[in-house]
Amino acid sequence: MHVKNAKDYLPDSLNQEKKARQRDLHHEADAVVVGAGIFGCAVAVALGNQGRSVIVLERSLKEPDRIVGELLQPGGVAALEKLGLRDCLEEIDAVKVFGYDVIYYGEECRIAYPANVTDEETQEDKDVSRTDEMRGTRRKRPEGRSFHHGRFIQKLRQKAMAHPNVSVVEATATELVRSSYNGQVVGVEAKVNGETDSFFGGLTIIADGYASKFRKEIRTDAPVSKSKFWALELIDAKLPMPNHGHVILGDGAPVLLYQIGTHETRALIDIPENLPSASIQAGGVKAHLKNVVAPSLPAQVRPSFEAAIEKDRLRSMPNSFLPPTTNKTPGLVVLGDAMNMRHPLTGGGMTVAFNDVVLFSNLLSPENVPLLDDVPLVLQQMRSFHWQRKNLTSVINILAQALYALFAADDAQLKALQMGCFGYFKLGGNCIDGPVGLLAGIIRRPFVLFYHFFAVALYAIWIYISSGSVLAMPLRMIGSVAVFWKACVVIFPYIFSELRS
Ligand SMILES: Cc1cc2nc3c(=O)[nH]c(=O)nc-3n(C[C@H](O)[C@H](O)[C@H](O)COP(=O)(O)OP(=O)(O)OC[C@H]3O[C@@H](n4cnc5c(N)ncnc54)[C@H](O)[C@@H]3O)c2cc1C
Ligand SMILES: *[C@@H]1O[C@H](CO)[C@@H](O)[C@H](O)[C@H]1NC(C)=O
Repeated sequence: MHVKNAKDYLPDSLNQEKKARQRDLHHEADAVVVGAGIFGCAVAVALGNQGRSVIVLERSLKEPDRIVGELLQPGGVAALEKLGLRDCLEEIDAVKVFGYDVIYYGEECRIAYPANVTDEETQEDKDVSRTDEMRGTRRKRPEGRSFHHGRFIQKLRQKAMAHPNVSVVEATATELVRSSYNGQVVGVEAKVNGETDSFFGGLTIIADGYASKFRKEIRTDAPVSKSKFWALELIDAKLPMPNHGHVILGDGAPVLLYQIGTHETRALIDIPENLPSASIQAGGVKAHLKNVVAPSLPAQVRPSFEAAIEKDRLRSMPNSFLPPTTNKTPGLVVLGDAMNMRHPLTGGGMTVAFNDVVLFSNLLSPENVPLLDDVPLVLQQMRSFHWQRKNLTSVINILAQALYALFAADDAQLKALQMGCFGYFKLGGNCIDGPVGLLAGIIRRPFVLFYHFFAVALYAIWIYISSGSVLAMPLRMIGSVAVFWKACVVIFPYIFSELRS
């Protein structure tokens, strides 16, 4: 079914045309990708650059209007650059991001992306003595970008559509096509303008996002969601610290604010399931935003926030957790949000996706895997993929879940850890550079996360014991055991979820 050895005797340009005909007339390619979102577009271009013939199926090529994927961490920008797609961040009115402003009960702490902690150091970097004055002069500080998701997606799609080795088709994938001979997945069935059609590839790559229809083909567990992010778009909001993401912590679950365009600022408000102040009896989400969230925001933000409540339609997305799993199905791989999700608090999803594309396309390059329908070789490389991606993704996954638990603290022990966490940030230096380097996708060492997490826990315990009256100290020492236990309960399940295959 595949024209596998055509490239052996045809000149490249002819070969390329022939493959384009093969895709467009016969719907045959080296790879079929389902979903032209963050992962799908990037992987299509990466494989196309390697000379693979790629078909991408996307159910709607219209500019998406979504509240997800609006802040790309520096580690994601770097991966985008490696993929040759960095210019997709241009001409979309993107805003530079230098770090975070964490506001804890009104008190601010600036958390800048660190300049001197990357793992990929050059010799020149090593020769430079790193004093504080040198920071940002010899080495540029890493930058993130925030933007309207739809504009960025359209840029990525244009790259895929303009690629001579990629064909993008507006079609909704409905079912896998399996070989009747050995059951191997050989492509997908899709609806194109209401008609059913089939598309064949040596490898079928599913990247159909958080509500994946095809995930069930490789696993039985479902994503877990305990809260939603509700979204507002603020117009001309006055942010305390421009060019920074804002995290607002207080009595309730966290609120995020970040500029996504010259005039627009996104507010994401985390609302846990069954929150009394957002119940129907209490007036629903709108009442919660007005009565509970608005008063907790910095005064300068309130006017634009209140205006948005009145004007904007309320939208929400589930905040899901789905641990990664190894792809073991012949002819099929499921990647992106379809395979692995973490709480969006730390804005890690796109950074994971782009870094996964870099790793995946290296492991499956024509040098490593000459033919994508070579099942044993692909499965072997997917095993490597599962473990090699951990240095970056396990850090982002665990950190997102653990930070969310602390930031949405709903009991005394978690509150103590939350206070400890903010206190830890205020210590500055490595107590900021470490955690934010992990969050930004710059530090790829799971142990560093482990270290900082328990440093926060011990610091929290120290604050807890030493606060209050001396008489209460013995009691607090007993209480500190509960705080430490809580820290373990928060982090170990997520660590274990990363260790399974
Ligand atoms: C509230 C929220 C906020 C977030 N904020 C951030 C953030 O600030 N930064 C960040 O990095 N990440 C963020 N994320 C995560 C990020 O959005 C995802 O990790 C990322 O979009 C995943 O990319 P993907 O390609 O797997 O899925 P998507 O980008 O969702 O792409 C899936 C594509 O598949 C298409 N599709 C689906 N089904 C079919 C079908 N049957 N046939 C054809 N096409 C199909 C869809 O139309 C879509 O285009 C956020 C997530 C949430 C929930
Ligand atoms: C497309 O694929 C051909 C091989 O078929 C390769 O020679 C060429 O470099 C690829 N084009 C691009 C733009 O990467």
